[in-house]
Amino acid sequence: MFHLTTERPDDGPAIEALLDKAFGPDRQSKISYRYRHEAPPVAPLSRVARADADGRLLGTIRYWDIAIGHANALLLGPIAVEPSLKGRGIGVALMRDTLDAAAWMGHSRVVLVGDIGYYARFGFAPAAPLGLAMPGEKPERLLAASLAKDAFRGVSGAIKPRRSLRGGGLIAA
Ligand SMILES: CC(C)(COP(=O)(O)OP(=O)(O)OC[C@H]1O[C@@H](n2cnc3c(N)ncnc32)[C@H](O)[C@@H]1OP(=O)(O)O)[C@@H](O)C(=O)NCCC(=O)NCCS
Repeated sequence: MFHLTTERPDDGPAIEALLDKAFGPDRQSKISYRYRHEAPPVAPLSRVARADADGRLLGTIRYWDIAIGHANALLLGPIAVEPSLKGRGIGVALMRDTLDAAAWMGHSRVVLVGDIGYYARFGFAPAAPLGLAMPGEKPERLLAASLAKDAFRGVSGAIKPRRSLRGGGLIAA
């Protein structure tokens, strides 16, 4: 019914239209968008779901480079699925495929803003008890997942767009 591929530059308009449909046109005012405006998406992890029949765009997921203290991490989101096709496994496929790819690429920390009810199944848990914060965002909506053992040990503080630390001596993933 659908397959996943990496995003292509010409997917841009269809992705923007899907995000408007899923989140509403005021989505750009969300706090997490400030981080996304600061850096390009992580291209190998920006993936889409396409209909097998005609290649139509059915879902999108993107990731961004961020920093937590001097450690690097990924900010996941947005993820959205064509509203008429919700509940058919497209979201789960996009999540599992990209988290596996992120781990394979050597990333060990992922954070996102969302509902724990959906993301717990992928290993996400509240980030506040780890000492993580996204200034301006509701603390209970900030979630974190480790892709490697003890990935958040010694890593805490406010999330920053990666670009703001350019030249600041980031440690490895
Ligand atoms: C959230 C979203 C990406 C999930 O994609 P999807 O293809 O519909 O989801 P899947 O078919 O892969 O998974 C469906 C499961 O997720 C659950 N689910 C979906 N949204 C949920 C939510 N907000 N909270 C808890 N569970 C949720 C469904 O109940 C279903 O559970 P089940 O497998 O136990 O029956 C999609 O519904 C969407 O685009 N929503 C609007 C945009 C959005 O909210 N994005 C996420 C930001 S938090």
